[in-house]
Amino acid sequence: MPKLPRRTPVVAPPAPPEEPKGTDAPTTLAGVTETPPEVGETTPEPYRRPRKVRYTHDAHTVRHPVDDYPTPYAFVDVLFQNLGVDPATTRVHEPAAGGGWLVSHLRRLGFAEVTFEDLVYSGVDYLDGDYTPPETDWVITNPPYKYAEAFAVKALTHAKYVALLMNSSFIEALGRARGLFTDHPPRFILVNARKMRLRDNNPSVFAHYWLVWERGYGGPTELRWVVPEGEIKMPDGLAPGVWPDA
Ligand SMILES: C[S@@+](CC[C@H](N)C(=O)[O-])C[C@H]1O[C@@H](n2cnc3c(N)ncnc32)[C@H](O)[C@@H]1O
Repeated sequence: MPKLPRRTPVVAPPAPPEEPKGTDAPTTLAGVTETPPEVGETTPEPYRRPRKVRYTHDAHTVRHPVDDYPTPYAFVDVLFQNLGVDPATTRVHEPAAGGGWLVSHLRRLGFAEVTFEDLVYSGVDYLDGDYTPPETDWVITNPPYKYAEAFAVKALTHAKYVALLMNSSFIEALGRARGLFTDHPPRFILVNARKMRLRDNNPSVFAHYWLVWERGYGGPTELRWVVPEGEIKMPDGLAPGVWPDA
């Protein structure tokens, strides 16, 4: 009889080393642990007034604490041209005016009335429940992304139309698909078919979209592609003549 190979005893594979408790969540660069959100799910962040921040125009290698990213003019032009808005008879409100670039461009375009505020520059918290913004035809801004949803909802309380400049991740979220976009379907989504260049001249990794709401509109949402003219640059510094010291 041929010699059978010796049977090796069956041994359970060693258990993986136990994770020390509390370290299964990824750690951010700042050393803060976060629980990852479920794929495709977003939960609107509860609104917390940001801590007072000192404004800087430093290199944007990290996200600015209150998202102070000026609005390129070409995006503004293409929005109003596409929707056939007549500046001469239209009032506009910019609730997160930042360095004032959007405001200065709206003035240049000849809008009938341009009102504005900003948390850092004028100390007005647009999302404060006690703050009542002026009645207007349009609210237009590129809000801090974290609170964009709250900006949209508040803007619809005092404007007939609302235009927020957002990147694509804003429309991809399940939470908003079942929430904001069901309760308030945008009238239009305008896809800017040209990428913005950042201050270091590299193209932004995101496409930018205008989400346009009309108060009381129940859908469906119309998608349009728009082509802003020329190179789209992010302005830098403070727009002249908007804030008292600029
Ligand atoms: C992306 S920047 C807007 C830039 C501006 N549109 C421009 O053209 O220069 C966003 C701005 O939102 C402001 N902000 C953040 N939270 C705010 C709040 N709750 N109320 C008002 N402004 C706020 C920040 O101070 C920041 O300047």
